Amino acid sequence: MSLTDQPGAGPTAGPTAGHASARAAEPAAEAAREQLRDRISADSLTTRRDYLRIVATVSGGLAIGGVGVAAGILHRHGDSETLPETRKVTDQLLPGQSVAFRFPGDEDRALAVRLGDGTLVGYSAVCTHLSCAVLWRADRGPEGELYCPCHEGVFDARTGEVAAGPPPRPLPRIFLIEQLDGSVWAVATARSGEPAKDALCRQFAEPRPDMAQRLGCPGTTTAPENGQT
Ligand code: FES
Repeated sequence: MSLTDQPGAGPTAGPTAGHASARAAEPAAEAAREQLRDRISADSLTTRRDYLRIVATVSGGLAIGGVGVAAGILHRHGDSETLPETRKVTDQLLPGQSVAFRFPGDEDRALAVRLGDGTLVGYSAVCTHLSCAVLWRADRGPEGELYCPCHEGVFDARTGEVAAGPPPRPLPRIFLIEQLDGSVWAVATARSGEPAKDALCRQFAEPRPDMAQRLGCPGTTTAPENGQT
């Protein structure tokens, strides 16, 4: 019911009431209208205040999350302490193409890109600034770029390093392999800025000592050849 539909407030008020009683009812109707207007204004104010509080809380949460990540307190998207389960990314990836997938966990957004010269690269698609989604733009620069639209962050497509904007760290890396049939698989991750060998040794050492040995990881000995001991 709108204000103009209030009983007795308009020309549809009963004719039998007469002009005198209609005039007497007017102050009461006006008072009721005032009360209703005040209530609506108060409700709007409350809603607006609540909304601002929610926005402030969420923004604060994001900022705190950013600090926590920088300090290594919280789980970082794209990171994995242990060797993740190998995951198929796509059947084929041609030069200039990219594909979005999830790795190492089901919630971790990731991107695989085939650069123009055939190099295959993979990264976490969670911006290191405030965790917005990173996109692939093939038509930017000589090799395309990884772009975060939230605050114009740009990452180098070949290295994942920050090329422009506010992101404080490179994108965490995802190690991809390509099978003979052209299918692409994600096998491991590196933390933001972590050297590839350190990352691979950290993840392969325990579950795959044979692989760690082949990688020459510290603490492993050279594998005996031809079954010799
Ligand atoms: Fe990516 Fe700010 S969240 S640049």
